[in-house]
Amino acid sequence: MNDFKVTPWEVTGDIDYDELIVRFGTKRIDEELLQRFASYGPIHPLLRRGIVYSQRDMEFILDQYEKGNKFFLYTGRGPSGHIHLGHLMPWIFTKYIQDTFGANLYFQMTDDEKFLFNDDLSLKQTKDMAYENALDVIALGFDQRRTKIIVDTELIKTLYPMALEVAKRVTFSTAKAVFGFGNDNNIGEIFYTSVQAAPCFIEKSLYGKCTPCLIPCGIDQDAHFRVARDVAPALGCPKPALLHTKMFPGLTGGDKMSSSVPGSTIYTTDSPKEVRKKIGNAFTGGAVTVEEQRKDGGKPEVCAVFKYNFYLFEPNDKAVDDLAERCRKGEVLCGECKKLLSERIVQFLEVHQQKREEAKDKVHDFMLKEEC
Ligand code: TRP
Repeated sequence: MNDFKVTPWEVTGDIDYDELIVRFGTKRIDEELLQRFASYGPIHPLLRRGIVYSQRDMEFILDQYEKGNKFFLYTGRGPSGHIHLGHLMPWIFTKYIQDTFGANLYFQMTDDEKFLFNDDLSLKQTKDMAYENALDVIALGFDQRRTKIIVDTELIKTLYPMALEVAKRVTFSTAKAVFGFGNDNNIGEIFYTSVQAAPCFIEKSLYGKCTPCLIPCGIDQDAHFRVARDVAPALGCPKPALLHTKMFPGLTGGDKMSSSVPGSTIYTTDSPKEVRKKIGNAFTGGAVTVEEQRKDGGKPEVCAVFKYNFYLFEPNDKAVDDLAERCRKGEVLCGECKKLLSERIVQFLEVHQQKREEAKDKVHDFMLKEEC
């Protein structure tokens, strides 16, 4: 058996994404569902390429939408450090769903979660980071009229009654089975899942009405929403639906871009020099000598540089296929690919960093605030 682990707090090993569908009991996004997406406009490359690949109850969301019943979007971020490209991927996808369906978005910043789960961070640090990370969310261009950011500790009066409704219906034995908690976990960690569940039902908290909720997120977050889905009927709400993304690849060859492996991540605040250096050192799986590579070709399926193009930086399907083909034939070498990708990322970050600056004036307008 392939030994890998995907939980909200730990992603390790060689992830078998097909196997995860079985383990978690989700559904693959099939051709029929893709066709339904296509009826609303061009399908996003992340969907077309099977990077957003798994779902729960997406058919229900579209059935409702077609009957004229709106849904809202919910996603989030645990603000423990700076934002890297891997974090942006599900958010870029969320923006596509917002633009396509005109849906409201609630974006949760879990300063409480990162405080509870991280020995080294104070509550002030995670809250400051929530505001810092919000700049990256806003920089992506979410529609201001339809987007609200929640900072947990600041919206707790609104979230708490719903978190209690959830918490009352989740036993410790369920929490242990779903999250693997043991005697060493602090009691805040055990309660926390009910805070992440609360925004699934936020329109009930805010307006007394259960609007269907759709959550685009990394598949590592699924455990929280299995719990939320189980309690939904008791709250008189539809189960939140999900669209799952695969993990964004690391530059050093791993399955996931991780903040804990230096050089495996590109932060949105990186300078062009840092980007070029990190891409220059990226794992490609290419041959040692030029002659060998010309003769045997490269391996795009293991190459981090190719994966970056495939995941985010080459939206044109034909171009991405051509690149793979030319790499396999030894027609294009790693140095060339690295140079091209570096320039694309540098260009992307130049725009993003500019928008991030502009976001500083808007951040308070995006926050959902409590009336005192
Ligand atoms: N727990 C998530 C993280 O650590 C943050 C989060 C909160 C989230 N609510 C969410 C992610 C909803 C996806 C969808 O990053």
